[in-house]
Amino acid sequence: MSSSAEELREEVRRRYADSARAVGESSKSGSCGGGACCSDDSEASAAGSPRFGEVLYDLDQRGELPDAAVLASLGCGNPTAVADLHEGDVVLDLGSGGGIDVILSARRVGPTGTAYGLDMTDEMLALARRNAADAGVTNVHFLKGMIEAIPLPASSVDVIISNCVINLSTDKPAVLAEMARVLKPGGRVGVSDVVAEDRLAPQDRAERGSYVGCIAGALSKAEYEAGLEVAGFGQVSVEFTHEVADGMHAAIIQGVKVGDPGGVTPPVVEPRRKSGCC
Ligand SMILES: C[S@@+](CC[C@H](N)C(=O)[O-])C[C@H]1O[C@@H](n2cnc3c(N)ncnc32)[C@H](O)[C@@H]1O
Repeated sequence: MSSSAEELREEVRRRYADSARAVGESSKSGSCGGGACCSDDSEASAAGSPRFGEVLYDLDQRGELPDAAVLASLGCGNPTAVADLHEGDVVLDLGSGGGIDVILSARRVGPTGTAYGLDMTDEMLALARRNAADAGVTNVHFLKGMIEAIPLPASSVDVIISNCVINLSTDKPAVLAEMARVLKPGGRVGVSDVVAEDRLAPQDRAERGSYVGCIAGALSKAEYEAGLEVAGFGQVSVEFTHEVADGMHAAIIQGVKVGDPGGVTPPVVEPRRKSGCC
């Protein structure tokens, strides 16, 4: 990884460590982690046009969560509303933050299922573990690690969710390849993320917001679709839900792992014919 990518990743980690600390210290203040949301500008939210955070979850869902889990919500969608979760599934949340989507998923998959949260920021992991304990869910595991090198075995996950995190990665092809690796064949992706209209070049995206604020690092719709297909996903769709900046949208990204792109196809063995037969 180049030093500028490393610096960017460190900046992301610091930003979300601050956010987790702020939620921990003032979970009663009603602020979004001290204003450190996945956004640089909370004016639109204040003006009644929600773009990031807890308002993207319905009241019933918020009601079943600890306050700190709701306040720590920094996403741009609600992947649990679109992910096809079943009793007994193994679910993995990439960049699980304060744990909101892991807790909701754990309840959906029930005691025979498992919900994993993966995050690189110690402060977020500590907050998520407290929130899961307060919520009384036990079928959850929070893992420390990078979404570019997922610490789980191949073909071990049924569903991958994520909420406004992949745009923060400095190596998106690695994330998509890792998603394909850990999913079982037929495994599903239901992700929320910020996505740019195809007309916006990377420079245009950077003019609309910062990298740590989930804007500058966003893929375009076509880049997302192509990246998922190259990684080994079919039935790919990227649907915009609401605009978060000029030409930049929160989106729902879905796909199904169609095969094993890293796997070796077994040779076709012709049955041996007995001479004179047939
Ligand atoms: C915008 S917050 C979203 C948190 C959570 N998904 C939510 O909806 O509230 C981004 C989270 O992703 C984590 N993160 C960012 N880049 C990461 C990476 N490359 N690997 C692992 N975690 C990462 C951050 O630590 C932070 O907790």
